[in-house]
Amino acid sequence: MASQEEKGGRVAIVTGGSRGIGRETVRRLAADGFAVVVGYAGNRELAENAAREVTANGGRAVAVQADIAEEEQVAALFSEAEAAFGGVDVVVNAAGRMHLAPVAELELAELDAVLRTNVRGTFVVARQAARTLRDGGALVTFSTSVVGLAFPTYGAYSASKGAVEALTLVLARELRGRNVTVNAVAPGPTATDLFLDGKDEETVARLASQPPLERLGTPEDIAEVVAFLASPAGHWVNGQVVRANGGIV
Ligand SMILES: NC(=O)c1ccc[n+]([C@@H]2O[C@H](COP(=O)([O-])OP(=O)(O)OC[C@H]3O[C@@H](n4cnc5c(N)ncnc54)[C@H](OP(=O)(O)O)[C@@H]3O)[C@@H](O)[C@H]2O)c1
Repeated sequence: MASQEEKGGRVAIVTGGSRGIGRETVRRLAADGFAVVVGYAGNRELAENAAREVTANGGRAVAVQADIAEEEQVAALFSEAEAAFGGVDVVVNAAGRMHLAPVAELELAELDAVLRTNVRGTFVVARQAARTLRDGGALVTFSTSVVGLAFPTYGAYSASKGAVEALTLVLARELRGRNVTVNAVAPGPTATDLFLDGKDEETVARLASQPPLERLGTPEDIAEVVAFLASPAGHWVNGQVVRANGGIV
């Protein structure tokens, strides 16, 4: 059981905290003094490593398994945050899934899996966040710049993230009077498993050359944007989709 002193300070839940953008967000928010709950789906060891790295640097973190599309698991994730650290101020829903296929060839089972994690999962996490976040808090959801870029083969993924954007903008208005912000971050191509898996070098190089800044995004680039939205300095940004993509069009 944590002491009252240990329960003070701001608290963040980061889903998808075991890898990629979520993992870097854990690091970044911990550096800002947040106690962090590292959510993950199956990679227990990576999630525990992420939490251990925070505690080794003098911060506070625990790893908790929760499929974001499962109501009871998400409720338990939030309960763990409250039990360990006393409440929740920031929720970053970085967990996500991608499947690429032309619409004409799309397997509906793959579509269902993408929608389950990205749409249902975001709703389940957002609903719990709406019920739980403390005064001054922030929810950050994840879209993708592909919603605007409309790359072929991204139909299922892009449609799922279009839904995330719509939900995010509505929830920001529903939380009137709560002093809680709700924003989506929409990265462009970012060097993580989700982006790199299954792509050959040429495809990666072509996508990396597209933004005027002429490189891929890094998890650090995106974690900085999340940290700003989670901070008091970013609190006037509300009900927005922030396209963090090096200027790709
Ligand atoms: N990388 C890009 O280019 C890019 C661009 C635009 C948007 N995004 C979005 O940014 C977010 C982070 O992406 P990423 O590139 O960092 O992905 P990633 O490296 O593939 O990591 C995905 C994370 O999500 C977790 N996860 C997946 N399904 C889950 C579920 N059902 N419940 C709970 N956790 C689940 C994974 O946990 P385990 O490790 O336990 O499997 C992992 O921590 C995603 O929403 C993605 O759509 C990424």
